[in-house]
Amino acid sequence: LVLVVDFGAQYAQLIARRVREARVYSEIVPHGTTVEDMLARNPAAIILSGGPSSVYAAGAPALDPALFASGVPVFGMCYGFQLMAQGLGGEVASTGTREYGRTPVTISQPGTLLAELPVQHNVWMSHGDTVTQAPTGFSVLASTEVTPVAAFEDLERRMAGVQWHPEVLHSEHGQRVLEHFLHDIAGCRQTWTMLNVVEEQVEKIREQVGEGRAICALSGGVDSAVAAALVQRAIGDRLTCVYVDHGMMRQGETEQVRRDFEEVFDSLDVVDAEEQFLTALAGVTEPETKRKIIGHEFIRTFEAAQVRVFGDAVTEGEGEATAYLVQGTLYPDVVESGGGAGTSTIKSHHNVGGLPDDLNFALVEPLRALFKDEVRAVGEQLGLPERMVWRQPFPGPGLGIRIIGEVTKDRLDTLRQADAIAREELTKAGLDREIWQMPVVLLAEVRSVGVQGDGRTYGHPVVLRPVTSEDAMTADWARLPYEVMEKISTRITNEVAEINRVTIDITSKPPGTIEWE
Ligand code: XMP
Repeated sequence: LVLVVDFGAQYAQLIARRVREARVYSEIVPHGTTVEDMLARNPAAIILSGGPSSVYAAGAPALDPALFASGVPVFGMCYGFQLMAQGLGGEVASTGTREYGRTPVTISQPGTLLAELPVQHNVWMSHGDTVTQAPTGFSVLASTEVTPVAAFEDLERRMAGVQWHPEVLHSEHGQRVLEHFLHDIAGCRQTWTMLNVVEEQVEKIREQVGEGRAICALSGGVDSAVAAALVQRAIGDRLTCVYVDHGMMRQGETEQVRRDFEEVFDSLDVVDAEEQFLTALAGVTEPETKRKIIGHEFIRTFEAAQVRVFGDAVTEGEGEATAYLVQGTLYPDVVESGGGAGTSTIKSHHNVGGLPDDLNFALVEPLRALFKDEVRAVGEQLGLPERMVWRQPFPGPGLGIRIIGEVTKDRLDTLRQADAIAREELTKAGLDREIWQMPVVLLAEVRSVGVQGDGRTYGHPVVLRPVTSEDAMTADWARLPYEVMEKISTRITNEVAEINRVTIDITSKPPGTIEWE
């Protein structure tokens, strides 16, 4: 286990993923975690992430120097690098010169950390302060025009650091730097593979569920499918899969899901709950309230399904839980819902924050420690069809969070039509893998004047939100080809009666999120 200490940038998750790509398991801890708590987990190494602060700023997140005396290998990046310099007796100065973005770095001596890297290459920088002197015992490995100490290592104490962000793709050879630290300096063993994950999880599920029964909420997406496939492997036909059609799915989706899943799972129970959900959502416009209601109705529906499927035998189990609910919760959901890194709650994901308190199930969440790309790899390992494993993400609350304003059946039908056109054209253009996802958002409370044929129209706009992303934590707006935009716009305004304007969202994440609610 490698611990990544999160100093408040969005980089910690990316670092954790990169560590795992180096086949070493990693988890994120908030920077307030005491050294004692970190050491209690017996980490093979500790990585200090970047962060937005200056080490000199009042209230800047600090680090207990006891960490450096513990004998655990430490790697610092950016802010973490400066904390190391400061904590170990080097010097950090506010030179007044900042470095942002792509920066050439020059290696003076490669040491172990930068072994076999080109002497000159480009890395991604983002800092104001600069390390001007390395702590005693450390050799300086590289510099830039304004940063005399851009990388250092002390092989004896198994510590190293770089001023740049090796975890981002813009840093050339970043992964190799990280691997040099993990494998060659810290001596971490490379045991994190998806084959091991499958075996371990199957074992864990058997242990947790025992002779109990489980019910799985299939959403149609890859996460719940992989979670269910793992559980099915562990407990066979004591798993029942339930798919809730909450009326906010996309066009043709329920039929598609039914066809796909009946191939893989022994039994699939499709519940038509459209009326129940839309009634509960009537009059609601506030996004968090919508999400909470949808999460709540989900659980209620499953409780009903459970009674239908298992009878009373399961709910009356005394003491120990005998009824389990399988969920495809991922590690980023856990971190982003405030469960992992002490970060602020940005949105309640319907499968984490929206759970009601009076839950009758024990949860089985076999993907809780995994990133999306790892889930896909597990899916492939389990032999799930490619169509399922590579499906673009679609949020649990569905189109309900893509209607800005109250969710009604008519509005859903309108959005469904527009969304189907947009998806069809994207597929035709061959962009499905390049584009991470493209929500279509209906601004149901906004109207604008248009003209069609000879008549004046007073309809609603939709927003196309095409993004590229690696993990949905950060995203960039996708530069769709003009012809594709044109085709989508023409078709939507011609074919969907209520819509007379198509706009495009050109905001990255951050500051925007991918979904509008
Ligand atoms: P945001 O809008 O937070 O979305 O940038 C990040 C990714 O998560 C998806 N998303 C959800 N998925 N339940 C889910 O299963 C949810 O409640 C939920 N909310 C957002 C979103 O589509 C994007 O891929």
